[in-house]
Amino acid sequence: MYTSLKGKHLLDTQDWSVQDIEQLLKVAFRFKEERELGIYHDEVLRAKTFFMLFFEESTRTRNAFEAGIHQLGGHAHFLTPKATQIDHGETEKDTIKVLERYGEGIGIRKTFGTGHAYMREIAKWSRIPVINMQCEDYHPTQVLADLMTIKDRFQNNLKGKKIVVSWTSAPNYIRPLSMPQSLIQLMPRFGMDVTLAHPPEFSLKSGIMETARKNAELAGSKFEVVESMEEACKGADVVYAKGWGPIMHTEDEEDGVRIIDSYRENGNMDWVVDKRKMDIANPESIYMHCMPYDRDIEVTSEVVDGPRSVVFDEAGNRLHIMKAIMAATMANL
Ligand code: CP
Repeated sequence: MYTSLKGKHLLDTQDWSVQDIEQLLKVAFRFKEERELGIYHDEVLRAKTFFMLFFEESTRTRNAFEAGIHQLGGHAHFLTPKATQIDHGETEKDTIKVLERYGEGIGIRKTFGTGHAYMREIAKWSRIPVINMQCEDYHPTQVLADLMTIKDRFQNNLKGKKIVVSWTSAPNYIRPLSMPQSLIQLMPRFGMDVTLAHPPEFSLKSGIMETARKNAELAGSKFEVVESMEEACKGADVVYAKGWGPIMHTEDEEDGVRIIDSYRENGNMDWVVDKRKMDIANPESIYMHCMPYDRDIEVTSEVVDGPRSVVFDEAGNRLHIMKAIMAATMANL
């Protein structure tokens, strides 16, 4: 299979054309189908190395990349700032100019502060593809697996399908804006109508909102913002709800957590995905979440364990997308 993606960085899905993404999905679907048939692909990245630099923890992203490159015949190195000289101040340029001599690709997760700028700086100096494993603004490998999951469910026919991207009141800490921002940017490009729902304190970055609106306009799809999960769910085909922080409203973490918690006071269910909300969505609608979710806080167990939930297929598709990304950017596919 031929693709034109060799050597390409993946920092934001906006950097890839719709044609690039369709090529990638074709490879991912093929890997998925052939794995189910017991066909091996261990020649594709034979003796190649993918570096995984994690500034934060991960279950899905790390293990999908690591299992994925093993299945393709290569090897992954798990790196952290502490396990390298990054914690001692080694620069982006010095780090990548060394690693590019040892391996063929690198993924980076840095979800707070200046993660995206850090990746762009690495990419500026890198001769090997740089993959964003999540930054403060974007989570491209997740949102591409989400697109794969939705295409699979709706037989590739996304025109006019409604996706709700909703805030939920997730406890304990401030989650980044990367998931809602990635979803509202990508899905309109593939014909989906996007309804973003959040309370007033949880707005997203204005530049990314503008990109989402332009993407919708160019593709002839719709983009709207409402302040009620229930209103958003009416007639939805996909309900994708997760927590994020009031990052555009306050920089104070304690204040942020207090605002998040205030939307759950006195058993308030307005921002929880429950059966009542799924019942006002379309009968064939699906529930999605990138995981990890807070059970019975963001979503009821009845919904997440119920027949409309596709969360495990969605997480499973991370493997096929990661393999497709590495194969297409690091090999001569
Ligand atoms: N969805 C996701 O990125 O999961 P991890 O944080 O476990 O990698």
